[in-house]
Amino acid sequence: MHDEPGINELFDLSGKVALITGATGHLGGAMSRALAEAGASVIVGSRMQDRAAAAADLLPRPGDAKHLGIALDYFDACSIERGVAEAIKNAGRIDVLVNNGYERITADWRDATGDQFNRQLANATGCFLLARRIHAHAVERGGGASIIMMGSMYGIAGSYPDAYAGICMASPAAYHVLKGGILSLTRHLAVYWAKDGVRVNCLSPGPFPAPTVDSRLMERLQAKSPMGRIGQPHELKGAIVFLASNASSYMTGQNLVIDGGWLAW
Ligand SMILES: NC(=O)c1ccc[n+]([C@@H]2O[C@H](COP(=O)([O-])OP(=O)(O)OC[C@H]3O[C@@H](n4cnc5c(N)ncnc54)[C@H](OP(=O)(O)O)[C@@H]3O)[C@@H](O)[C@H]2O)c1
Repeated sequence: MHDEPGINELFDLSGKVALITGATGHLGGAMSRALAEAGASVIVGSRMQDRAAAAADLLPRPGDAKHLGIALDYFDACSIERGVAEAIKNAGRIDVLVNNGYERITADWRDATGDQFNRQLANATGCFLLARRIHAHAVERGGGASIIMMGSMYGIAGSYPDAYAGICMASPAAYHVLKGGILSLTRHLAVYWAKDGVRVNCLSPGPFPAPTVDSRLMERLQAKSPMGRIGQPHELKGAIVFLASNASSYMTGQNLVIDGGWLAW
């Protein structure tokens, strides 16, 4: 029993380095703060270097954590290589990757062009290339890593047409394919990389719309939710630290759904 880690130790990210993409976004901001508050040095990814640096500067710094901003674009393989190289040069290592960023598509099943559809799916290519680079780094340095993919309830369930009717475009068909694919990618990589000590899990949020969405859509989403409300970004903080840390050390290839009960109906 005396070798058993305590609960605070299990969730502690002190001394760890976590890279998170899309860290300037609605959910990425709260998840970055969670990683920093748990003690990690956070490498903030954005397509724009100055936005990344500004977001990194705002993160809390308990202990001797050092945050850093890097430019990284999923649609540019060279930028993924450059971003990771710069992160490793500055931070020495990467223990955690949160593949959170994505480019939105502005067309649904009715009018998406083939090019738009393919571009949405190319978000998964970026997630894959970045995850593979972090896996190679973990193997090279003989350390493990925890990789977290961002899924969605819409990678599991079909859309909810009534929420969008007469207000805005539906949840895009290509987005459902993207997020369903991310879940498959999670399972595939998890089984290949488990023996390398690289865990791969998926975090699938339910409805967490930004406050800027049409208030009528917000009301419909709330009405559909078993909890009667949408999720607040801080409600992912516990889950991201759990998946990033040794608190989930025997978990890989899984999907953690945080959706206020949406998928439980
Ligand atoms: N919000 C929800 O209700 C919800 C529900 C389920 C799942 N999710 C998932 O949660 C994640 C975050 O969603 P969010 O609502 O926080 O979205 P968001 O506010 O739009 O943030 C997404 C971020 O991705 C970055 N990004 C855009 N294009 C990129 C590219 N080509 N390469 C790398 N990064 C790129 C952007 O950062 P820069 O402009 O700084 O580059 C942006 O801040 C997504 O994977 C989303 O699918 C969200």
